[in-house]
Amino acid sequence: MNRDRFPGLSDGWARLDGPGGTQALDAAIDAMADWMRSGSSANDGGAFAASHATGALVDRTRERLGELLGGTADGITIGPSMTALTLRFAAAVGRTLQPGDELICTRLDHDANVAPWLIAAERAGAVVRFAEPEPGTLALPASAVAAQLSERTRWVAVTGASNAVGTVPDLAGIAESAHAAGARVFVDAVHHAAHRRIDVAALGCDALACSPYKWFGPHAGVLWARPELLGELGPDKLRPSSDAVPERWEVGTPSYEALAGILAAADYLLDLDWAAVRAHEDALLERMTRGLTAIEGVTVHGGAPDRTATVMFTLAGHDPEAVAVALAERQVAVWHGNYYALELHRLLGLEDRGGAVRAGVVHYNDEADVDRLLEGVAALTR
Ligand SMILES: Cc1ncc(COP(=O)(O)O)c(C=O)c1O
Repeated sequence: MNRDRFPGLSDGWARLDGPGGTQALDAAIDAMADWMRSGSSANDGGAFAASHATGALVDRTRERLGELLGGTADGITIGPSMTALTLRFAAAVGRTLQPGDELICTRLDHDANVAPWLIAAERAGAVVRFAEPEPGTLALPASAVAAQLSERTRWVAVTGASNAVGTVPDLAGIAESAHAAGARVFVDAVHHAAHRRIDVAALGCDALACSPYKWFGPHAGVLWARPELLGELGPDKLRPSSDAVPERWEVGTPSYEALAGILAAADYLLDLDWAAVRAHEDALLERMTRGLTAIEGVTVHGGAPDRTATVMFTLAGHDPEAVAVALAERQVAVWHGNYYALELHRLLGLEDRGGAVRAGVVHYNDEADVDRLLEGVAALTR
């Protein structure tokens, strides 16, 4: 779908590395260059026209991101990466924790939604408990999180979708049981955002982070949180910088050109036909899993009923890195290792074996991309 909107796809490679970062949308690339050329590029808060234009860009980007995520502009913070924003957010939460308080993380999550909470808990003398995905399918039902909840639970940190095996947990069910126990919910939607429409109101979460470079925009991070929460928690900040919400959460001068690109990518996502995206990706997921499992020696890890078109596999007798190198020789881009899904790789016993290969489809991929992956893997067994 829409392949011609992604100039980076024109070099002939099968780009199955979307979960590590997608190709940029033409409009996002143009918006960034146009912004830098426009003369409007300035710092925010000055008395002259270009500075006003920069302020308007910030406001407009927050507004569109609020719409995109189902929240409001005053809950939106933009920063260098999801990791940076989450470390900062978790550190602020950490200052509200008492010894003996509990946090819940999951073994499906990228370490950007685990380590920040481990650090915050350690500083506060709090305890981190882990929700385990189901063996085999690696699904994460609400009951897996409910099993770890107690009256001491303060926050649940859960992925919107696993960047390794694609599992989409029962987020609404998790938020409901967490709230019933008096806990709040932080969702890592970095992998989720390219595949599903996000609606923080429907999910019922308290905070959610994502990264525009995983949804066809530039490298940056976006955090939405309930505005009252952004007022309640106290992040570190410089004395002259604004203490208003959400500005107090942003440190230093942002990449305004990145904001121009984020805005264009958000406009694109807001106009996408998500039902068509889902149908297209599900068909490619089916083709990819059926094709891979038919190859002798291939193990596809996981298979949750609700998952994105992201497949993690190993090939008996072949190091995952060697598989990735062989595929790259055929101009097929995949990832190998643990892709920071450290807890999951430990759980599956893959961490000491070079991890696994990950091939991820987004809506711009097509059958030919998947078939080239399958041919490349099959060739290794001959
Ligand atoms: C699921 C998930 N969470 C978090 C991150 C970290 O995002 P960022 O690179 O914006 O810090 C990634 C990046 O790969 C990811 O896939």
